[in-house]
Amino acid sequence: MADYALPLSGKVAVVTGGSRSIGEAIAIELAKRGATVVITYVSAKSETRVKDICAKIEALPHKPSAYFIQADLSTLSAPEKVKSSLLAWRGKDLSIDIIVNNAGVERVKGLGEISLDDYDAVFNLNVRGVILLTQALLPYLNKNGRIINIGSVGGRSAFKDLSLYCASKAALEGLTRSWAAELGGNGTTVNCVAPGPVASELLDNIPKDIVERQKATTPLGNRLGTAEEIASVVAGLAGKDGAWITGQVISASGGWAVY
Ligand SMILES: NC(=O)c1ccc[n+]([C@@H]2O[C@H](COP(=O)([O-])OP(=O)(O)OC[C@H]3O[C@@H](n4cnc5c(N)ncnc54)[C@H](OP(=O)(O)O)[C@@H]3O)[C@@H](O)[C@H]2O)c1
Repeated sequence: MADYALPLSGKVAVVTGGSRSIGEAIAIELAKRGATVVITYVSAKSETRVKDICAKIEALPHKPSAYFIQADLSTLSAPEKVKSSLLAWRGKDLSIDIIVNNAGVERVKGLGEISLDDYDAVFNLNVRGVILLTQALLPYLNKNGRIINIGSVGGRSAFKDLSLYCASKAALEGLTRSWAAELGGNGTTVNCVAPGPVASELLDNIPKDIVERQKATTPLGNRLGTAEEIASVVAGLAGKDGAWITGQVISASGGWAVY
């Protein structure tokens, strides 16, 4: 019975960008299902919030553990920082079961205005950061591991002034498929969850006409998704129910994007 009530009991999950919105909901949902959760964040202003999220997790009835790490995942030094912090926390027996690559940024600029700085800002976090962190944590990933990359419906759609963001999410889909082919030998699955619009600071910067058009054409309720709805999809993939699903991109968009 406990297996059903707490399907992620005994599992350790790392959720990047877990200080707010979608990442916060994922961290809480994984913990509700029994996982020990590590949350990463970047901004000093998010520290209090992250501590509150960890306290909320640790106050759940089954008392899961929570741990947080500050790291700018767009930098080359971040993966080592995260790894050493995890080793300092768990010791040399560190083992991880679930990696959720959620942290991401966007820049809203047309082709004529995109600068190298914009390219670096988006790709160094959304693509290079995912590669380097996953690579650093891979030696500690248990068999039957789960790698879940948070993409976007933008990875397969045409949104004006969002080419860098959409291209970075398309790249994540490519990484997902190839890593699934590489890592399946020991039961590890690699999938990408592609949300449609969800209220968040990231969404606040997306042009309103794009978001309104998406809402109007979303079959399920003509509304935004919620962070909790995305978190449920991720948590399902993270558990036993996700064991035979790998290399997939799952549109979590109320039917706006149909793959
Ligand atoms: N919201 C949507 O409509 C939507 C739709 C499709 C896909 N997504 C994807 O879902 C994911 C989460 O989006 P969201 O809307 O929840 O974003 P958000 O509210 O802007 O939160 C972003 C998270 O990423 C962290 N972060 C930002 N830059 C970072 C860096 N350089 N290094 C490490 N962490 C960093 C932030 O940490 P701090 O709090 O410390 O700044 C925060 O925890 C992203 O990959 C996004 O592309 C979102």
